[in-house]
Amino acid sequence: MPTVRDVREMAGEETITMLTAYDAPTAEIVDEAGVDVILVGDSVGNTALGYDSTLPVTVDEIASHTGAVVRGTEDALVVADLPFLSFGYDETAAVENAGRMLKEEGASAVKIESGEHTVELTETLTRVGIPVMAHLGLTPQHVNREGYARQGTTEESAEEMLDLARAHEDAGAFALVLEHVPANLAGTITEELTIPTIGIGAGPETDGQVLVIDDAVGLGDWSPSFSKQFGDVRGEMERAVSRFRDAVESGEFPADEHSHVEETVDDVY
Ligand code: KIV
Repeated sequence: MPTVRDVREMAGEETITMLTAYDAPTAEIVDEAGVDVILVGDSVGNTALGYDSTLPVTVDEIASHTGAVVRGTEDALVVADLPFLSFGYDETAAVENAGRMLKEEGASAVKIESGEHTVELTETLTRVGIPVMAHLGLTPQHVNREGYARQGTTEESAEEMLDLARAHEDAGAFALVLEHVPANLAGTITEELTIPTIGIGAGPETDGQVLVIDDAVGLGDWSPSFSKQFGDVRGEMERAVSRFRDAVESGEFPADEHSHVEETVDDVY
């Protein structure tokens, strides 16, 4: 099982693979495929819970999905995402919320959508034994401030991101997710840091890549331009569901092999 330390040491040495998962059977598939890190992302809000943003996702929801993913995982490092307003304004609450993911649900680390307001928190969590994966660039919890636009596209914002990346590394973060930022900026940040960077929409020069599982396997009805579908799970499910409906409607299912008859109950009326 890779530990946080193993993942940190993969920087510049081995390519890190990370996918999200939200339930035990999916975690099992991702884990058995040899993916290094499973993120229980707050993207569960958009993918599994039917919200149109990640903002409504609660600590209870992330905790419940984290427990399921941990139960389905043998090898991969499981990281729980801290949802909107579960951190960032009350440090005690943030430590409790993050601690719950490790203590009660069995995650090995938390991910935090980062900014100036999370540098001290990263230091505190790391000090008390809660490893932190930082996240810069597009941070969907800030949709009301930034929208879903590309980040780090001006010299000033790129400098700011590099400074924040360094600050989170200094505060003890063991890895950094970079989302929807120019590939050359992601390359520079990767060179400047000793901890690994894991990109999503951040080009090929990061130490690893992460995708939302629904996008990667083709389960969602929409995926961002920087994502790639490696399968057609939605199509496969649609075909299976239609076959079920047809078979029930035609009387082909259930057949004899799916039923059993007990002679002893023949005379019940
Ligand atoms: O919530 C999530 O799935 C994420 C990834 C896109 C990195 O934050």
